[in-house]
Amino acid sequence: MRVLGIESSCDETAVAVVEDGRVVRSNAVASQVPIHARYGGVVPELASRNHVVDILPTLEAALERAGVRMEEVDGVAVTAGPGLVGSLLVGLEAAKALAWAFDLPLVGVNHIEAHLMSPLLEYDGPSGISGTPEGAFVGLIVSGGHTHLYEVQGVGRYRLLGATRDDAAGEAFDKVAKMLGLPYPGGVYIDAAAKAGRRDAVRFPRPMLHSDDYAFSFSGIKTSVLTHLQRSGAARPEGEALADVCASFQEAVVDVLIAKAFRAAQELGLRDVVIAGGVSANSRLRERALEVATSQGRRVHIPPLWLCTDNAAMIAGLGAHYLRALPAGSRFEGFALNASSSLPMGALPPTCAS
Ligand code: KG4
Ligand code: ZN
Repeated sequence: MRVLGIESSCDETAVAVVEDGRVVRSNAVASQVPIHARYGGVVPELASRNHVVDILPTLEAALERAGVRMEEVDGVAVTAGPGLVGSLLVGLEAAKALAWAFDLPLVGVNHIEAHLMSPLLEYDGPSGISGTPEGAFVGLIVSGGHTHLYEVQGVGRYRLLGATRDDAAGEAFDKVAKMLGLPYPGGVYIDAAAKAGRRDAVRFPRPMLHSDDYAFSFSGIKTSVLTHLQRSGAARPEGEALADVCASFQEAVVDVLIAKAFRAAQELGLRDVVIAGGVSANSRLRERALEVATSQGRRVHIPPLWLCTDNAAMIAGLGAHYLRALPAGSRFEGFALNASSSLPMGALPPTCAS
């Protein structure tokens, strides 16, 4: 089965072709980062307008790179939520038009679920850490909007163990970066600056590290960074001081994420841990995850960088599993498929027109 995936939930327009739910034939991404960078964050109105401009060239690029014509595609999967509604609608409309014009089945999938299941794809090129998980695993989703820990039994079978009570991990990275005068998207710049810094230069708090649940909280670390900057008298540190703040902040966030994910694995008796979403691109998080997994005899799976940030390969990959489950003969999830910012994970399409 050859699935065309479409993703437009935030500021990346992405189209991919995936075979058998695993093999990535192409993964085209048009990034809007330079457009939003000057505003210090994603401007929803601009994001939607640019998706409209980018969607067809990205589709053409994905088909060309895969060496596939639309007539050779067996189904379409599209991100239906969560995300910016105006952005989601552009991808949804493109997906519906293609499904209708080429008489193809169509499914809407959950963006977060797609991140979580992205290690099920086979990677071509620089691979993620430790390949594909086998059986049940603990899944940590860390992105700009989510910090959620799940027990995953298989596709569509998830149990939420805990989530952030305030900021998502990526949001904390982005807000601290803004405070430090670093460009958007902040996580990438903090990661880069931290490489030259001392991780123990400033002792920032590790909120909820020892709480007896799997909840997270990151707004306190952010406030501590602000207090530290005010006390140190340098609101915009540079050079060594900047590197030290970045390394120390990053270490605090990474400590909590790693501790909770691996404690869950231990308590649930699961060997495999998956870390996915934009923040899983963080070099220190990857390094620590591998260290802890090795010391505990577990396996950690983190997708390669191109699969960590928003992409359509993960949408097509997960979509293939749901397309296979559609009742025989059904063509569309229904023309009623719509963007939803509260789309549940693991839900099969509500209606299937036959
Ligand atoms: O998954 P994603 O691309 O979009 C959402 O669905 O949110 O995640 C974006 C988030 C941003 O907050 C960005 O700063 C963060 O991922 N991020 C990083 C790194 N690369 C991206 N955070 C820390 N270190 C990185 N290297
Ligand atoms: Zn994402």
